[in-house]
Amino acid sequence: MIHLSSRLAAVAEQVPAGARVADVGTDHAMVPVWLVQSGRAAGVLATDIRPGPLQSAAALVERTGTGEYIRLIQTGGLTGIGPEDADTIVLAGMGGETMIAILAAAPWTKRDTLLILQPQSKRAALRRWLAENGYFIEAERLAEDAGRIYPIMRVRGGVSPAYTAAELRLGRLDQVGADPLFVRYLDIARASAVKAAPYDAEAAALLREYDDIKRRLDHADGRGDI
Ligand SMILES: C[S@@+](CC[C@H](N)C(=O)[O-])C[C@H]1O[C@@H](n2cnc3c(N)ncnc32)[C@H](O)[C@@H]1O
Repeated sequence: MIHLSSRLAAVAEQVPAGARVADVGTDHAMVPVWLVQSGRAAGVLATDIRPGPLQSAAALVERTGTGEYIRLIQTGGLTGIGPEDADTIVLAGMGGETMIAILAAAPWTKRDTLLILQPQSKRAALRRWLAENGYFIEAERLAEDAGRIYPIMRVRGGVSPAYTAAELRLGRLDQVGADPLFVRYLDIARASAVKAAPYDAEAAALLREYDDIKRRLDHADGRGDI
């Protein structure tokens, strides 16, 4: 079995058993290879927009003898891919804006498709876009890798609940508030909001919300009932 980083392991673990997966922006094809070796996926489409990453994907697939179950395709986003190819789509390690562009061009992903999203940036913009465009985050967790904390979202088509300003940045408290990494995640978000001084009214309200969450966490004191 290949070894996945804790970020990629947290992504791969979200894939349901027997899924037909498309890993978009696969680069090295680590996730597809792990999904096949572990028996988790029935088959994987591994795609990338650039030839270089696909070459390293092909090399790993060959080295691990997983080619029977992994189809490699060079394409941008979900171009040329439809619900007949995959019921689970992984978008990991790319910016939130790239994910928005990919999903906006593939509205079929709102029907009977599980999206596993691990954005590197623009998380608030991504959560807002999902909520305003017919998707909802059914679960979210955090993973730590090399000192950085990453959110991993399970998303489906449907009506989203409302998000506060802090929740757009951190995730919904009923989903990530009890995560063991949440307190550190909140502290990092708060520190970067403080650095953005001088504040306008919106930034000041965000900081107050962070402080309020922190107080509630201190009060809950590990009971996980924030
Ligand atoms: C940083 S790598 C992430 C690789 C892997 N998914 C991971 O999480 O470790 C991002 C990959 O996405 C690819 N990529 C960027 N934009 C893309 C798009 N619109 N469609 C498909 N692949 C894309 C890049 O070529 C690159 O190989």
